[in-house]
Parts: sequence; C-alpha cells; structure tokens
Amino acid sequence: MADKVATLHLPDRAEPVSLPIHSPTQGYDVVDIRKLGDAKLFTYDPGFMATAACESKITYIDGDAGVLQYRGYPINQLAEKSDFLEVAYLLVNGELPNKAELEDWNYRITHHTMVHEQMARFFQGFRRDAHPMSIMIGVVGALSAFYHDSLDITNPVHREISAIRLIAKVPTLAAMSYKYSIGQPFVYPKNNLSYSANFLRMMFAVPAEEYEPNPILVRAIDRILILHADHEQNASTSTVRLAGSSGANPFACIAAGIASLWGPAHGGANEACLNMLQEIGSVDRIPEYIRRAKDKNDSFRLMGFGHRVYKNFDPRATIMRQTAHEVLHHLGADNDPLLKVAMELERIALQDPYFVEKKLYPNVDFYSGIIMKAMGIPMNMFTVMFALARTTGWVAQWKEMIAEPSQKIGRPRQLYTGHTERNYVELGKRG
Ligand code: SDX
Repeated sequence: MADKVATLHLPDRAEPVSLPIHSPTQGYDVVDIRKLGDAKLFTYDPGFMATAACESKITYIDGDAGVLQYRGYPINQLAEKSDFLEVAYLLVNGELPNKAELEDWNYRITHHTMVHEQMARFFQGFRRDAHPMSIMIGVVGALSAFYHDSLDITNPVHREISAIRLIAKVPTLAAMSYKYSIGQPFVYPKNNLSYSANFLRMMFAVPAEEYEPNPILVRAIDRILILHADHEQNASTSTVRLAGSSGANPFACIAAGIASLWGPAHGGANEACLNMLQEIGSVDRIPEYIRRAKDKNDSFRLMGFGHRVYKNFDPRATIMRQTAHEVLHHLGADNDPLLKVAMELERIALQDPYFVEKKLYPNVDFYSGIIMKAMGIPMNMFTVMFALARTTGWVAQWKEMIAEPSQKIGRPRQLYTGHTERNYVELGKRG
C-alpha cells in the first residue's frame, strides 16, 4: 500500500482525484495513475519523457550522477572485474553466480551456440549487400520456426530454454550475417572457446588457416558487450516488452527489439557516429560541424552525443574511451585520424555553451565505433554488435515482465484531435 498520496485538483471537477505515490529503492517516486481512467482522464506523455511503464529490478540509471548499475552492481566494477557471460547470468537471474552456477550457465550457453543447419538457407534469400541488421531481424525471428517444443511462455522451463538459446545463438547468427555479406563460408562455434573468443573466431576465421583469438581483442569485445548489455526501458527494450505483453514468443520479441535498435537515434548511432567522424575527416573541419549541430534549421546532430537520461557523462562512454586507447595502442593505431577527430570533437563540444547548457555529453556510441573499426569489424556490423549484447538485457527484461503476476497487454491511450463524427459523402458530391 502506498504511504504517500498525490491529490489532483481539476478545474471542472468538485472532487479532487487521489493518486497513490510509490517509492523506489533508488530514483524518483512515481505517481500511480491507473485510477485516472475512472475519473475519465488520461495522461499525455509522447516519448514517455516522464512515464514509468513498468516496475523493474534489473538496471538502474541516475542520469544526473552518471550512474549505471546492473542489479545494483556499478557498471565500472563489472566491466573491470567480470566477464560477459557472468554479467548475463546476473542480469537474467538477479544475483552473481557461485562457481557451480557459473560453470552450469557457461556449459548450457556454450552447448546451444549452434543453429539448425536449415537456418543457413535463410541467408541465401538476402542480397549479398543486405545490411546485416536486416538479416538479423529476419533470422532471429525465424528461430521461432525451429523451437515449437518451447514456445509456451507460461511455462517457466520453456522461458528458460528460450533465454539460453537466444543468448547462445545470436552471436552465431551475427557472425553468419557478416560472413554472408563478404561471401566467406560460415564458421561453426567451438565449445572450447569463451563467448567473446568464439564470436571473434566465427567472425574472422577462414577454413584456409588456423585462427587464434587475440586476448586483448577478446577482452575488448567482452567489455563492449558488458557495457551494452542492458539500459532500463530504452526504445528497443520497451519494444520487446510491448511485443511480449501480447504473448508473442521470445524469438519474435527479440527480433522486434533488433528492429527498434536499428534506428540512428538509438543503436544505429555507433555506425552513424563513425560515418560522421569520417565525413568530418580532419580536426580543422570540426568547427563547421559544431555550427551545424547548433543550427536549428539544420537537421545535422552530433552522433554519439546526448542522451534521454544521462545529463552527465554516460559512464559507459568513459570506460569505452579508455578501451579505445588500449585497443588502438595494442594495434599500433595510436595515431588513428578518426580517434584524433573524436578526441578533439569531444574536447571542443564539452567547452561549447550550447552543449553544456543542453547537457549533451558523449554517450556509449561515441567511442565504440572507433574500437570496432580498429578491430576490423565493418561499420554495418556495429549495431549488430549492440544487438548481440542487448539480447541479454532484452531477454532479462522479457522474463521479468512475463513472470510479473499483474502483467497485462500494453495498450497506450491517446489524445484524439481528429474529426468529430461526420457522414459519408458520395463520390459525385465531393469537391
Ligand atoms: C542510445 O535510451 C537509452 O538508454 C539508449 C541507449 C541504450 O543503451 O539503450 O543509451 C543507447 O541510443 C544512446 C543514444 C545514441 N543516439 C545518438 O547519439 C544520436 C544523437 N543523439 C540525439 O539524437 C539525442 O540526443 C537523443 C535521441 C539521444 C536523445 O534525444 P532526446 O532526449 O529526445 O532529446 P532531444 O532530441 O529533445 O534534444 C534536446 C535538445 C534539442 O534542442 P532543443 O530543441 O531543446 O533546442 O538537445 C539537442 C536537440 O536539438 N540535441 C542535440 C543532440 N542531441 C540533442 N543537438 C546536437 N547534437 C546532438 N547529438
């Protein structure tokens, strides 16, 4: 029972409306408006700027303080001390695993990394130059055609095996999307490799020679996956929840999340950011782009800057920046011109009153593209990498929603400003 109440006084109503206030363990109080319908009132909040669509225990962000926690653990500690599969266990199950739990989790994920051999045929239907995200939307959704034995979302055993299959198979499908686009043969997963090492091998190994994953690059990939794994109720996670609320199977829901993530305002920003850095090309052209970003009549925005929630530094960007320097140094690319442009753009933007007043800081996408490009991952695979990591967060959020006893189908209302009722006009009588 809420111990605080908001009282809403309305101009044309004698009686005020009392609305319970719920308090979180961290963050803002929420006003429970579910009873507003009884008072024949809706709220209006396009883009959900101030609307909590659900209760969750998975991830917490404090945008003003630049804080990101997975199940209460600060992202910088997890990025430094954990690995992606352990973080995946934490997000999905709520606690860090003990040794036996971690071994079992790693074993189950590892032994589900192969896809049905017929999945390979779906790729043949795509043009070779198809964007890998278009392929991923198709093939991840198609997984539901292969698992009729576990599509009953009311069955916790089915939910568990679907979660394992999605986390295990998305890297395999992601690497297949890349191999298909460059005309190389698919590389099967190897169970003696870690999650991130397996992914790098499936991406870059060729039958003609041995491939040994570079441990520095494996660690960098693992850190990129950790940083991108979950992020509260962002656009793609909200898409997955809304799709799941209708009872759609988890493979279809994750495919919907991939589609939403593709947008340049969301997960597509890493690819858009690198395109922007390449278009700027040199440090002396930065002022021109800063001017354009500030020009209301110019649709250009600094990709990789700004965030709906972070009005301070995105803590992921800080870790990504450090990783960029480590990887480029290891690869002998300290003088990468794109890194120079990025560093100078960041320096100038952070001093510019426009960006300071609007609290526009580099976000997670600002540096990730530089790292991935240096590692040989092509730009059109950047958002696929984001989807690979975020599949774990989507799965965790989907499982949490489905297990919620009060879970209902999501069905927002609207503010209707269209025509009032009017009669049909025969064709001959129209203007
Ligand atoms: C991700 O939600 C999540 O958590 C997302 C994510 C996750 O992990 O899931 O963190 C991943 O999507 C990160 C964001 C990646 N997107 C980009 O880098 C694209 C560039 N950024 C913007 O498009 C924008 O900042 C958003 C979409 C990220 C946030 O947009 P909001 O919160 O809707 O803010 P807004 O567009 O209303 O901008 C507020 C003001 C506007 O100016 P005014 O109308 O008030 O005068 O800031 C300006 C904007 O014009 N502005 C920018 C800008 N971003 C916002 N101006 C120049 N360059 C930018 N990048």
